[in-house]
Amino acid sequence: MPDSESFFQKNEFLIRRLHSLSGLVPVGAYMCVHLVTNASILNGSETFQNAVYQIHSLGNALFAVEWLFIFLPIIFHAVFGFVIMFGGKSNLKNYRYGGNVRYVLQRATGMIAFVFIFLHVFHLHGWFHFDIWLKSVVEPLGGGQFLPYKASSTLASALQASFLIPTCYVIGLLSCVFHFANGLWTMGITWGVWTSPNAQKRAGYLIAAGGILLSLIGLSAIAGFTGLDAEKAEEVETQMYENAVEGKRIPAAPHKFYGHDENHHEEHN
Ligand code: HEM
Ligand code: HEM
Repeated sequence: MPDSESFFQKNEFLIRRLHSLSGLVPVGAYMCVHLVTNASILNGSETFQNAVYQIHSLGNALFAVEWLFIFLPIIFHAVFGFVIMFGGKSNLKNYRYGGNVRYVLQRATGMIAFVFIFLHVFHLHGWFHFDIWLKSVVEPLGGGQFLPYKASSTLASALQASFLIPTCYVIGLLSCVFHFANGLWTMGITWGVWTSPNAQKRAGYLIAAGGILLSLIGLSAIAGFTGLDAEKAEEVETQMYENAVEGKRIPAAPHKFYGHDENHHEEHN
């Protein structure tokens, strides 16, 4: 029935390869860098703030970088991930050496990752930064809590609002890391990197060790922010902010320090 073939069926090989690749780069690579950056809180709020300044020194280009290299690839990977889960053929053959537990877990953690990333980006970033969206949707729902120029203190307050929040972060983090590590292992089979059962076994141990390390890095960041004294961190950030703007290290963007609340913003100007 060639006429009734869907777009996915017609281009299945290419889409599956792109889907697989997008899980590694840029999505997986971004996650690794993101988790290491977050863990820099272990060295104190000044170190984490410096890392965020570095990202925000991109100024207006940040919006394009975020969408091109982070959001769109995640949306692509997630959409075709769901198409594969609910419409495509099974790739159970890749799991012949490990049973189908990991196959089910890969799909379950993909779904958890989807819910987590969607809510996480809404909670801290708000997805879009135009005023009407922020005022009418993000703020009433308690999203967009992260202020890049008050990075540690706003992240700490956001995580400390209820014990449920760090709990959800732990579940989301572990699901994303498992999904990434297990995905990497299947990728090695699909792309023919490890073919013999022995090579697959060795790759499995290496990837498991990497996954445990990445989980510890992510967990230490969650613990670091959940235990942080937000008031002290805000004092450090206030001192850093003026110097950084004066020294032209970061573009002057008061909403990244005061938020979008105009009254608050005027008071401090
Ligand atoms: C260890 C737990 C985590 C912490 C403390 C954390 C922290 C943050 C913070 C502070 C932001 C806001 C950045 C901004 O608005 O500029 C952010 C954004 C984001 N996070 Fe996480 N994150 C964590 C885990 C994860 C995981 C596991 C993923 C999965 C891939 C993820 C994906 C994202 C994405 C896609 C964004 C939006 C990117 C952007 O704003 O440019 N995060 N995260
Ligand atoms: C946003 C929600 C996500 C969904 C719905 C999703 C879904 C899926 C599905 C269904 C697969 C298996 C494909 C197959 O069986 O052929 C998969 C594979 C994979 N995913 Fe995700 N995923 C998500 C997020 C992520 C994230 C955040 C990462 C990286 C940090 C990632 C990395 C990978 C990798 C590396 C693979 C292996 C590709 C392969 O088997 O060749 N995924 N994803």
